[in-house]
Amino acid sequence: MKNHVWRPLFVILGVIILLLLFRTFYVPDDFGVHGDSFMYNFYRQSNEQEWKDQLVKYRDNDANYCVDCHEEEVENRSEDMHGLIACQNCHGPVLDHPEDPEALTIDTSRDLCLRCHTLLPYTTSERKRIPGIDKAEHWPGEECVTCHNPHNPSLEEM
Ligand code: HEC
Ligand code: HEC
Ligand code: HEC
Ligand code: HEC
Repeated sequence: MKNHVWRPLFVILGVIILLLLFRTFYVPDDFGVHGDSFMYNFYRQSNEQEWKDQLVKYRDNDANYCVDCHEEEVENRSEDMHGLIACQNCHGPVLDHPEDPEALTIDTSRDLCLRCHTLLPYTTSERKRIPGIDKAEHWPGEECVTCHNPHNPSLEEM
């Protein structure tokens, strides 16, 4: 064969050899040690423990957890409406509360509520179920919680 065919072939061979060398030194020893399955073993075994050591930030069914100590807030919240929203959605991750942190955040800013209640132009999707307000029209400058109970926000029941 002619030179112009061999030369790129050598380059490719060189690259493959370099890759194999790199792989021997770089890939950790416990990578893919569970067997030969390409699909299920393509990870580093020590990574399992690393994930288990991660701090769990949020809890499932958080109201069930909170109710032991914050019965009033859990009892008072509306069945529908904000009863659908996890406590941690507004109060942040529970972590090891009440040990650490001793209290969760209380955010009374308008921004907390406008995250969900900004008036959006959706007319057909499920999203329109969440009633929106125009923040420039709806009591600008006032904290929402001066008028709405964040745990039971509808004014009709009051
Ligand atoms: C084992 C009891 C316990 C559990 C469970 C618990 N808390 Fe608390 N929480 C406390 C104590 C004690 C305080 C500090 C005293 C206080 O201010 O009420 C506190 C404070 C707070 C505060 C600040 C109250 C304030 O007035 O400053 C918030 C918000 C809060 N918790 C939310 C939650 C939420 C949400 C959950 C569930 C995800 C939860 N807590 C679960 C015991 C608990
Ligand atoms: C939609 C957001 C939102 C959700 C969901 C929510 N909270 Fe609150 N929570 C607030 C705000 C805002 C305040 C501060 C109210 C104020 O200062 O008038 C508050 C106050 C509190 C306080 C302090 C005492 C009080 O009533 O002022 C506790 C304790 C608390 N919440 C627990 C809970 C628990 C437990 C849940 C779940 C069952 C929950 N919250 C769900 C927004 C929320
Ligand atoms: C995570 C999204 C979310 C956040 C944050 C949130 N809301 Fe809501 N809000 C909802 C949903 C969902 C409903 C119930 C819609 C329905 O099904 O009727 C609702 C209902 C309401 C209603 C009842 C409207 C009516 O029809 O009577 C008011 C008022 C309200 N929220 C005020 C607030 C205030 C004030 C805050 C901040 C403290 C807040 N919301 C934070 C999602 C949210
Ligand atoms: C000064 C009191 C006051 C403040 C502050 C206030 N609201 Fe209201 N809000 C009302 C009243 C009264 C109504 C019912 C009459 C109406 O629709 O205007 C209402 C209605 C609503 C509704 C239902 C609208 C609908 O179409 O069903 C939502 C959602 C709402 N408010 C969210 C908020 C949010 C979010 C904030 C803060 C950014 C806020 N409100 C601040 C008094 C207040």
